[in-house]
Amino acid sequence: MKTESPKHRGLWTTRLGFILAASGSAVGLGNIWKFPYIAGQNGGGAFVLVYLVCIFVVGLPIMLSEFVVGRNTQQSPVGAFQTLSPKTPWVGIGFIGVLAGFLILSFYGVVGGWTLAYIVKSISGSVDHFGSPKEAGDFFGQFIGHTWEIVFFHALFMVLCVLIVIKGVHGGIERACDVLMPTLVVILLVLMIRSLTLDGAMEGVRFYLYPDFSKLNPQVILIALGQAFFSLSLGMGCMITYGSYLSEKENLASSTIYVVIFDTLIALLMGMVIFPAVFAMNLEPTEGPSLVFIVLPAVFSQMPFGTLVSIIFFTLLAIAALTSGISLLEVVVAYFIDQRGWTRKQAVLIACTVIFLFGVPSGLSFGALGDFKIFGMTFFDNVDNITSNYLLPIGGMLTAIFVGWIWGPKAAKQEIEQNGVRFGWVGPWSFLVKYVTPVAVGFVFLAKFFK
Ligand code: TRP
Repeated sequence: MKTESPKHRGLWTTRLGFILAASGSAVGLGNIWKFPYIAGQNGGGAFVLVYLVCIFVVGLPIMLSEFVVGRNTQQSPVGAFQTLSPKTPWVGIGFIGVLAGFLILSFYGVVGGWTLAYIVKSISGSVDHFGSPKEAGDFFGQFIGHTWEIVFFHALFMVLCVLIVIKGVHGGIERACDVLMPTLVVILLVLMIRSLTLDGAMEGVRFYLYPDFSKLNPQVILIALGQAFFSLSLGMGCMITYGSYLSEKENLASSTIYVVIFDTLIALLMGMVIFPAVFAMNLEPTEGPSLVFIVLPAVFSQMPFGTLVSIIFFTLLAIAALTSGISLLEVVVAYFIDQRGWTRKQAVLIACTVIFLFGVPSGLSFGALGDFKIFGMTFFDNVDNITSNYLLPIGGMLTAIFVGWIWGPKAAKQEIEQNGVRFGWVGPWSFLVKYVTPVAVGFVFLAKFFK
């Protein structure tokens, strides 16, 4: 028996509620933790430019496609493709999505755990009075090598996800996002000002904004593309699922634009917080996953009310991570509820436990399992690489092909224009979805494999 028939799905209560929830999914560790470190590893300005192109040329049209498919079918990804194209392999996109959600949340929860730990460490006053950035680095290095602490906070993060997702969509997910988003912007602005006024900050601004195109190669472009998908929560049916909880009154096109712009602004802002500080403090922009956790405590150590700012920042970051984590979990859970007839509670508890267990080796990748490498990468890096750089772009490309060629822009336009909403961009949008997006993603893959 189905426990949540389409008509009984929780619907978002307000338009702003939906935009905030979708932004809540999009804005997370991807913007604040991942974007700065991979921009740093991949050359700065030129990477940022390619990233922006990917966001607007590939990401934006796909996000609209996902919303449309979700709202039209009122189903999670597997069911959605089954409904629109029964008995065809297109349903595979849905399964790729469920798999990707599972894999991403497994390492996402680990980093979510780091943020929770840093709230506690801020409160106890241990991360805001480092004498030098090196001390901040050593402190973090020790922390992520500490097996039980890592597993404990990882588990805690997953438990918080469970508590919210068990309550269902608008009870938990929507309300959590309402206050958080505006507050996050304010704190990032404060940090940016502090960072920009450090001695030597301008060199960081230059690294971040001045594109040195000699740093580009197919691998860098693939990473920028993968990051665009990751940051916008695309390519795995997450936005299909969120769209499926949406009523017919909403203007999907303008909601898409809000979410994309908001997500991009947060990432860009975060770069302006991190890179000036990196250069002012003589740190390396190529530091990797630990970058933000080293640079920010070093900045907090050099500002008035550092402890307080640190507590607020890591709390907001943890909440931003949670509102993204729950959207990943929701995709996996919605599959078991909608397709397998499980109850929500069963689905959440079982999915989350298995995802947590699979995430443990990622959590230990910086300590006990640091030397355990597959393809020359740690477990953590492998799961991240497979999902961000392969599963998401493939899922997104197939979604675009599906909407552009199989379901068709006409049907999509009809869905968008319900209730008298006018969508004047059908032409450019269907051109992007039919030609530009699939060709761009395909080209990046080819370039990478045949370079
Ligand atoms: N976009 C989120 C972030 O930037 C992470 C995320 C949530 C995600 N849902 C997703 C990534 C779906 C890919 C696909 O932190």
